[in-house]
Amino acid sequence: MTSPTALPFKTDLSLELAGLRLRNPVMVASGTFGYGPEYADVVDLNRLGAIVVKGISLEPWTGNRTPRLHEVTGGLLNAIGLQNPGAEGFIATYLPFLRKYDVPVVVNIWGRAVEDYVRVAERLSSEPGIHALEVNISCPNIKEGGISFGTRVDLASQVIGAVRKVTRLPLIIKLSPNVSDIRPFARAAADEGADAISLINSFPAMAIDIETRRPVLANVTGGLSGAAIHPIAVKLVYEAAQAVSIPIIAMGGIRSAQEAVEFLIAGASAVAVGTATFADPQACLRVIEGLEAYLVRHRIASVRELIRTVRL
Ligand SMILES: Cc1cc2nc3c(=O)[nH]c(=O)nc-3n(C[C@H](O)[C@H](O)[C@H](O)COP(=O)(O)O)c2cc1C
Repeated sequence: MTSPTALPFKTDLSLELAGLRLRNPVMVASGTFGYGPEYADVVDLNRLGAIVVKGISLEPWTGNRTPRLHEVTGGLLNAIGLQNPGAEGFIATYLPFLRKYDVPVVVNIWGRAVEDYVRVAERLSSEPGIHALEVNISCPNIKEGGISFGTRVDLASQVIGAVRKVTRLPLIIKLSPNVSDIRPFARAAADEGADAISLINSFPAMAIDIETRRPVLANVTGGLSGAAIHPIAVKLVYEAAQAVSIPIIAMGGIRSAQEAVEFLIAGASAVAVGTATFADPQACLRVIEGLEAYLVRHRIASVRELIRTVRL
């Protein structure tokens, strides 16, 4: 009699988040994966948990002057300035392509006044093929002298509440890390009816060319992303998870499954790969495969069992 061979251990990467059915918890971060077609030759979009497109405003926007990207130790400085084709441009040029895929499409939106957010949210909500909105509140509020919506709880609440009223799509609020305490912002999102929060956006930062003594970026300052911000992001995700029970999507310096697993343990239900995609366009796929291998190695039957499991 031959002994039965052991069946390979199977793990389940799927989960439901904010009403979205994800085949795995690995997304791509807004602004680092274009609108999808740019990467479709090297990444099968259907393998992603979700695709999060670059920020869209109501009207087209040209962004900042160049240079607007600069590599620094452990990360990237960017001052793209939210260049985008506007809601109509996105709907006409990119949405038909995205509709061919069986992957949740999350559209990141931004504005410079509450009405801008409301109008772009309204316009996008009437289009089939958009499955959720991610609201980038790290934008300057022109009516408040340029202070970011994401750094004052009252302004954040205003924009979240106003967008919530005009959309039935799942609403994800993307928090700014540029605050002394993330918890009131996470609570404001939950209180105003958000379905999930995502964090973190890039950190305000600056680099100087010492030969010319001029800022490297034409915009003088930019946002720092990449490996350098990862441990800060883990701390903020951990703190946000203490404050709210709505799901958290974590991003900030994910380069491999290691960082993704850390985020899930800290309190995230899903993660997004950002800057790493510029060095390796298939970074998101490596993260999915590495996460699966981790779960198998630890004999964890579902990724859902890993979420919010930090041992103190
Ligand atoms: C070039 C670039 C463009 C970005 N554009 C957006 C954007 O349009 N909207 C947004 O909410 N975040 C944007 N981000 C922030 C990322 O989505 C992400 O939150 C941040 O980079 C941290 O993740 P990472 O360290 O993995 O890149 C951008 C980041 C980079 C590097």
